[in-house]
Amino acid sequence: MVNFIIFIIIAYLCGSIPTGIWLGKTCKGIDIREHGSKNSGATNAYRVLGAKYGIMVLILDALKGYIPLAIAHKFGINGGELVFLGLIAILGHTFSLFLNFKGGKGVATSLGVFLYLIPNVVGILVITFIIVVYISKYISLGSVICSILLPILTAFLPMKDNVSRTPMLIITTIVGIFVVYKHKSNIGRIVKGTENKFKLK
Ligand code: G3P
Repeated sequence: MVNFIIFIIIAYLCGSIPTGIWLGKTCKGIDIREHGSKNSGATNAYRVLGAKYGIMVLILDALKGYIPLAIAHKFGINGGELVFLGLIAILGHTFSLFLNFKGGKGVATSLGVFLYLIPNVVGILVITFIIVVYISKYISLGSVICSILLPILTAFLPMKDNVSRTPMLIITTIVGIFVVYKHKSNIGRIVKGTENKFKLK
């Protein structure tokens, strides 16, 4: 139990690291929360700071989800407990200790968490995301559609041996609904036709 509590704290602290904001401020003297969509995530880092920084934030934010799970798993945390740690890392990103409990929309950190737990589902979602963004030019629409598909695919695709379906279904449903909710302003802009379009840099 003590072990598990320590890993909950580690997962939360990892998720909390505001990579986009720290990179922007340190490398370019820019707070990305004051520009673009005002979000602290990889898409806004790409938009405001450039491709190199956007990709760096995407990778680092995904690692914030992947690494605590990989470490906890090595130390014998399994099943529902491991899945719960994933949820904590995602919540760390969206309610960051370093940002007065505010944060990003949770997409990249969810990518890292689910890449560790259900890589087959993530593989299909990444392909879906690329197709949706290619056609619509809206990153946010790709994120919303993948969030909706996340629990649906989890219900049908095979699970890894160390992961059971019930906790996975619970966490993917919670995260899916939560990420769609965090995109409510993006959805409003898509409906009005004023959402930022993705441009390759
Ligand atoms: O991952 C967040 C993305 O779906 C939308 O980002 O900056 O356009 O609100 P943004």
